[in-house]
Amino acid sequence: MSDATGKKAVLQLDGKEIELPIYSGTLGPDVIDVKDVLAAGHFTFDPGFMATAACESKITFIDGNKGILLHRGYPIDQLATKADYLETCYLLLNGELPTAEQKVEFDAKVRNHTMVHDQVSRFYNGFRRDAHPMAIMVGVVGALSAFYHNSLDIENVDHREITAVRLIAKVPTLAAWSYKYTVGQPFMYPRNDLSYAENFLYMMFATPADRDYKVNPILAKAMDRIFTLHADHEQNASTSTVRLAGSTGANPYACIAAGISALWGPAHGGANEAVLKMLDEIGTVENVAEFMEKVKTKEVKLMGFGHRVYKNFDPRAKVMKETCDEVLSALGINDPQLALAMELERIALSDEYFIKRNLYPNVDFYSGIILKAIGIPTEMFTVIFALARTVGWISHWLEMHSGPYKIGRPRQLYTGEVQRDIAGR
Ligand code: CMC
Repeated sequence: MSDATGKKAVLQLDGKEIELPIYSGTLGPDVIDVKDVLAAGHFTFDPGFMATAACESKITFIDGNKGILLHRGYPIDQLATKADYLETCYLLLNGELPTAEQKVEFDAKVRNHTMVHDQVSRFYNGFRRDAHPMAIMVGVVGALSAFYHNSLDIENVDHREITAVRLIAKVPTLAAWSYKYTVGQPFMYPRNDLSYAENFLYMMFATPADRDYKVNPILAKAMDRIFTLHADHEQNASTSTVRLAGSTGANPYACIAAGISALWGPAHGGANEAVLKMLDEIGTVENVAEFMEKVKTKEVKLMGFGHRVYKNFDPRAKVMKETCDEVLSALGINDPQLALAMELERIALSDEYFIKRNLYPNVDFYSGIILKAIGIPTEMFTVIFALARTVGWISHWLEMHSGPYKIGRPRQLYTGEVQRDIAGR
């Protein structure tokens, strides 16, 4: 726990004064330690955790008003432009960017674990071909729990470390297979001569018939950047889910499967898929004005806009927009749906309704557009988010397990029936 500042908050409760210690982090608002409220017979009430810090962490810092996102102190735009995804993974896991030697060693370690146990491939057959790939991911990532009995001691530092590497290495394989299965194509095994992003695109799009399949380097760079920009995001819903599941001592693969489930929802990781569905529904640029009216009367939400934390701009969206422009011009894409997306962006950035509410395009607005341009099917968008976020989840899980922690157990404001007796029996 951070040092108390010496400052105290004083709470008046039932005629008594309770002094609550205040702690300072290195950045961000001070926090009030409310534990003593319990001894005074009260709970605190904060649905949606709007003002509640549930843990102490050194991994990621966000200042939503200023649009700042730092991983281990480094701004996200610098990481996205000056480091690659695996370096960002190393940073999140270890606290520092790797030296050249550490980078080679870490890359090799990840490459060494890209294969999954052959038995895992059989799980896919249990799914319908039209299963949503996120449903498959929840199942197969959770199933990894059953394959590493000898390295699942969560008290053992080496076991925790190898688990982190295994997850970062294997999730792309499982993700690409969740796509291959739904389109009925054979699974492509990982190629360890390729970079992390290239290998993922290879497993997605190559087939055994196309021996000369080459990954487009512009797309690999964009993919790597999408991974980097989604790598971690502090105590969001899915990361908090991983921490909560992990706080029970559950095995890490099960915890990550819980994170994948939480990410799936359209208010979180499902937003990039929802953006494309929304564009489908709008149809053509002529229908935009009518759609925007529905947004203003709150009949529909503008997916890919707004954020719980970023109330001015999403710093990830800034870099993602640059990548989006790069990819679209490099591929010479002239897709009416993309023109539609650009029109939505233009209106939202200039219309008083959106300006007043600070509703800016978020990272998922642009990542959805890039992924579509790359040729990734819409159902895979959230899977790609999950792939990239796996490192964030496991970094938080590791941080929690490297110090003392308590089982997460929120309390409630009960508003149901008071005690009563079953009558007439
Ligand atoms: N479209 C239209 N209006 C919106 C939207 C939106 N996407 N988001 C917020 N608003 C309005 C909302 O109705 C409210 O208006 P009023 O003041 O008139 O009542 C005002 O803006 C403030 O919104 P809020 O509901 O207090 O915002 P929140 O912090 O609770 O919600 C959010 C954040 C991300 C759930 C929401 O903005 C949303 O549903 N956005 C669309 C989904 C999306 O793109 N999510 C991805 C977030 S980025 C990826 C990630 O980090 O997970």
